[in-house]
Amino acid sequence: MISSAPAKVILFGEHAVVYGEPAIAVAINLRTTVMFERDVDYSVNGLPLIDKYHRYIKKAIDLIWDGEPLKITTASAVPSASGMGSSASITIAVVAGLLGMKNEAEEEKIAKTGFEVEYQTQGRASPIDTSTVTHGKGILVSNKKMDNFLWDVAKGETRWFIHHIEVPRLKLVVGFSGIKGHTPEMVEKVRRFYMWNSFARDVIKEIGKITMEVIKPLEEEDYVKIGEYMNKNNKLLTILGVSHPMLKKMIDVSLKHSYGAKITGAGGGGCMIALTDEQDEVVKEIEEVGGKAYKVEIAEQGYTIDTQI
Ligand code: MEV
Repeated sequence: MISSAPAKVILFGEHAVVYGEPAIAVAINLRTTVMFERDVDYSVNGLPLIDKYHRYIKKAIDLIWDGEPLKITTASAVPSASGMGSSASITIAVVAGLLGMKNEAEEEKIAKTGFEVEYQTQGRASPIDTSTVTHGKGILVSNKKMDNFLWDVAKGETRWFIHHIEVPRLKLVVGFSGIKGHTPEMVEKVRRFYMWNSFARDVIKEIGKITMEVIKPLEEEDYVKIGEYMNKNNKLLTILGVSHPMLKKMIDVSLKHSYGAKITGAGGGGCMIALTDEQDEVVKEIEEVGGKAYKVEIAEQGYTIDTQI
């Protein structure tokens, strides 16, 4: 059995989505592939399966698999801790493969089980990453049911409604700062600000407002407006304290050739994205200031499952 899942970038609404505000994410064409073979012991890429090194794979096996031991081989084009959803990508590829081998692979079940794996492993705050890499294309997460509803995910008091959203063929460049972002720490930092400061709560609400407003420009392929909203969203994320000097540098140079640019994902390191017609120029600018740049497109395909073994 071979399964795979894409990476993702959040276009609008990271952090705010933790508090029930809407967010929009897209799957991108960098993928993680996983091969499963039956064996006498569990192994991952030739090493014994160990909780410490293979947290997501181990948790997925604990939650799903009751068959014979598996030899698991992984290959990923997604840099880890970059904000491109590397943990969601490996989680969903593994969950899809394991459920596939049990003949239980179905989009909603894969997305919900994948969220549970991430939640139990790193206390993931929202299901945006796992739902996006399961479904592919574009996802809108909100706190109420809207058009193109796919499924809902509940955790404690919070319930997220996951929707398909049509997004144009955006040309994006992702700039990786090389500094690993730590999602739980960044989420906790914002949570403290949010709890104690009404201004932070207003900023989170404003991010939610921007996300709703950008739906129309996305439908109309109005890149100038989309770019303006990206810049606004970036200012608000900076106020929340999730930027980093390297992210700021990459954003500033990208803007010379872009409609807009912003931090994507949890921040504090990790990645930025730029919306541009001049991908090569933006790549050059980012690499000149020391970042690693990826030209990416939206991945139509979410998870895949091939060949029964
Ligand atoms: C990280 O990709 C996105 C955050 O909003 C956290 C989450 O939603 O789980 C920062």
